[in-house]
Amino acid sequence: MANKIILIAGQRNSGKTNSGKALINAYYDAHGETNRILIVDTVDHEQYRHVQAIEPHFIKAWKSKTGVYRCFSSPPPGADTDWHLQIVTGKDESGILYFNNGLFVIEDATKLTEDRLQPYLRNFLADTKQFNVDVIFMFHGFGFVPRRLWKLADVVVIHKTVENFNQIKGNIPAPGLIEPAFITVQNHPNRYYSQTVKLT
Ligand SMILES: Nc1ncnc2c1ncn2[C@@H]1O[C@H](COP(=O)(O)OP(=O)(O)O)[C@@H](O)[C@H]1O
Ligand SMILES: [Mg+2]
Repeated sequence: MANKIILIAGQRNSGKTNSGKALINAYYDAHGETNRILIVDTVDHEQYRHVQAIEPHFIKAWKSKTGVYRCFSSPPPGADTDWHLQIVTGKDESGILYFNNGLFVIEDATKLTEDRLQPYLRNFLADTKQFNVDVIFMFHGFGFVPRRLWKLADVVVIHKTVENFNQIKGNIPAPGLIEPAFITVQNHPNRYYSQTVKLT
């Protein structure tokens, strides 16, 4: 991985988090000494409980910190549901992303993007290549991936879904690239089977 945007999509319990963890481990093995990993996990998944938790504002003090962290705290009363994501994708006064040189993982981006890529996320993604950030987005369905994110994505990991390809292909810039793998995954007997497709 090098400054890539990765989508992992499929229905609940299809193995997305499992796939994500494999990518996290690979990233840690390759870049763990110099780079960091931040998992944004609003539902506090059991699978990440062993990972050190940080408060979103703490990230502003990061300079060259390495290691694996997760951010799962609930937004304060009245704040947006993606409050912590808004903080950790921000920039300091010099225009440097708070989260740079690392792997950024968004568990369950489904509700965070609300079918459209929010402006702050769009800005963050526009800067990731400059600041050496890889991003993994996980979605409970292909239909939740905003059209704009399909355009920005470099890789998609396809898991099982009940969705029909015809329902989702309208959002995908090059559906022909994805359809064969999509069909293979949906017809595969192993419920956790997935395929990875390069889009760029
Ligand atoms: N390849 C696999 N083989 C066996 N069990 C798996 C595999 N992938 C996931 N699981 C198990 O299935 C359950 C759901 O997997 P998970 O990765 O959490 O799915 P999702 O993130 O799509 O909801 C977990 O208990 C996980 O341990
Ligand atoms: Mg999951």
